[in-house]
Amino acid sequence: MCGIIGILGNDPVAWRLVDSLRRLEYRGYDSAGIAVSEKAGVRRIRAQGKLSGLESEIRNNSEPKGTSGIGHTRWATHGGPTTRNAHPHKSGRVYIVHNGIIENFKLLKDKLTAKGAEFQTDTDSEVVAHMIDDALSQGASPRDAVASVLSKLEGAFAFAILFAGDDDLLIGARRGSPLAIGHGEGENYLGSDAIALAPLTNKVTYLEDGDWVVLTRQSVEIFNEDNQPVSRDVSFTQATTMMVDKGRHKHFMAKEIAEQPDVVGHTLAEYVDLAEMKVDFGERMPFDFNNINRLTITACGTAFYAGQVAKYWFEKYARLPVEVDIASEFRYREAPLSDGGLALVISQSGETADTLAALRYCKQHGQHLAAVVNVPESTISRESDLVLRTYAGPEIGVASTKAFTCQLTVLACLAIHAARQRGTMDEATERRLVGALSEVPRHMNTIFDGESHIDQVARQVAGARDVMYLGRGVNFPIAMEGALKLKEISYIHAEGYAAGELKHGPIALIDEEVPVVVIAPKDELFDKTVSNMEEVAARGAKVVLITDAKDVHSGGASVLETINIPAADSFISPFLFCVPVQLLAYHAAVFMGTDVDQPRNLAKSVTVE
Ligand code: M6R
Repeated sequence: MCGIIGILGNDPVAWRLVDSLRRLEYRGYDSAGIAVSEKAGVRRIRAQGKLSGLESEIRNNSEPKGTSGIGHTRWATHGGPTTRNAHPHKSGRVYIVHNGIIENFKLLKDKLTAKGAEFQTDTDSEVVAHMIDDALSQGASPRDAVASVLSKLEGAFAFAILFAGDDDLLIGARRGSPLAIGHGEGENYLGSDAIALAPLTNKVTYLEDGDWVVLTRQSVEIFNEDNQPVSRDVSFTQATTMMVDKGRHKHFMAKEIAEQPDVVGHTLAEYVDLAEMKVDFGERMPFDFNNINRLTITACGTAFYAGQVAKYWFEKYARLPVEVDIASEFRYREAPLSDGGLALVISQSGETADTLAALRYCKQHGQHLAAVVNVPESTISRESDLVLRTYAGPEIGVASTKAFTCQLTVLACLAIHAARQRGTMDEATERRLVGALSEVPRHMNTIFDGESHIDQVARQVAGARDVMYLGRGVNFPIAMEGALKLKEISYIHAEGYAAGELKHGPIALIDEEVPVVVIAPKDELFDKTVSNMEEVAARGAKVVLITDAKDVHSGGASVLETINIPAADSFISPFLFCVPVQLLAYHAAVFMGTDVDQPRNLAKSVTVE
């Protein structure tokens, strides 16, 4: 989603802004721009598409030499992804970059239009530049103008605002969307996350919701939503200054799939004692699962599917009732939550707007708050009572892969911990399950040995109009995750179904043109899944069977391709079956020539609802 950088520096700032924008590319964007304060006024340069377009514009237009400026990568919400709609937006002296959505912009725009304002863009963001400019023209100072405008805005936002004629002033504000201050030596910065700020400084202050800040090179003044001066902590960010690169891989997604044995291993090492073969959350746990009568899991997208897998584990092993909901639904459906329940949110970025809103809803309703998060300095981390980190490292590919398996790792350990605490699992079972988890990295590596075969299968899937994924039990969410991966990066329509649900409707879609990916672990549901496979094969579907069974007696059903994975304890089957479905999607997309790491229309971090 959109990215913000602002720099009050001592050296020419144009390329420094671009460098930080480059670090924000992973969030997904469709245009970019910068505005730089110069003696003669502010120079604004914008371009549609990737940063290379903006770089060419900067080179071709005599590079700005000013030392303060703002930059933005835009993921279009209001108005198409054109140069005209790219940020920064301007009105008079005011230049602004914005993340989020101004929900009452139409009303505000109508009022300004009635007063004679002329708008250059279709965006909601431009209205804010006009409002601040309007307040300035009535004699307000920049800080008073911003304060008065913030109180009139509805929706979610993070801003960085530059004022022509004052090259030592930057004002930032946040409500809903994240914004951080970077503290330098005689320089100060604003950034939408610590990754953008990392090459500039490791001293960071995260603004709280409703905060706004007035920066000069030598000073930082923070105000809360009541315009009262407040002080916020300075922390030392762990965000790496290194640009994460693709290593020997063609895409970040390929690298991140390949990293899974390592990062699952690192994550596991945090939560299990391998010498004793038991889970170990140390002193972290602020509550006792014996006092928890219900677990509410909320998340979006891939993280939601991790939550769905966890439901099977918590219910089966810990006998704890679990409700899993898509955060965008949960936040508005006024779910009754009894006191003392545990709310668990799952998020790679820790900034997903709907997941954050779900967390806050649960907080208001007296729940214990736990979060499984990959970015430790994110808003969700900061607002949760218990943060269970995943150690996936930066995930750059928009399609989530390694974050998912690390989420599963934490959730599996937590389910075992809950089961042991509630007395629903004996020590021997814990040892068996922890032993199985410790084998996940090795089994994943074995699956990679068969990657070239999966590539061949993917080429056969690549031409399809629709693809169906079937799974049962704990692998039903893996079927949905497989379908999500395929549609996200190859743009092929795909759906994941519970195999038993097939004959209640979806089987009508099956014909010779539809590949059906059947996820069939050799567990207690295996025979039933194979029966469902026969039903689709009998109707001509091209079956791609993924299984750890040695022999599949398919009763004559014709299987187009079989992807064999190593036999393992069925507890860890979601970890292993998700790897071939990730690879299938990846190779189909590569074969089709799509933009694998930054697929169309998608953003890495969805900070608007
Ligand atoms: O950062 P989060 O885990 O909260 O993100 C949730 C979803 O937006 C994310 O999983 C999305 O569905 C991915 N593109 C899936 O590949």
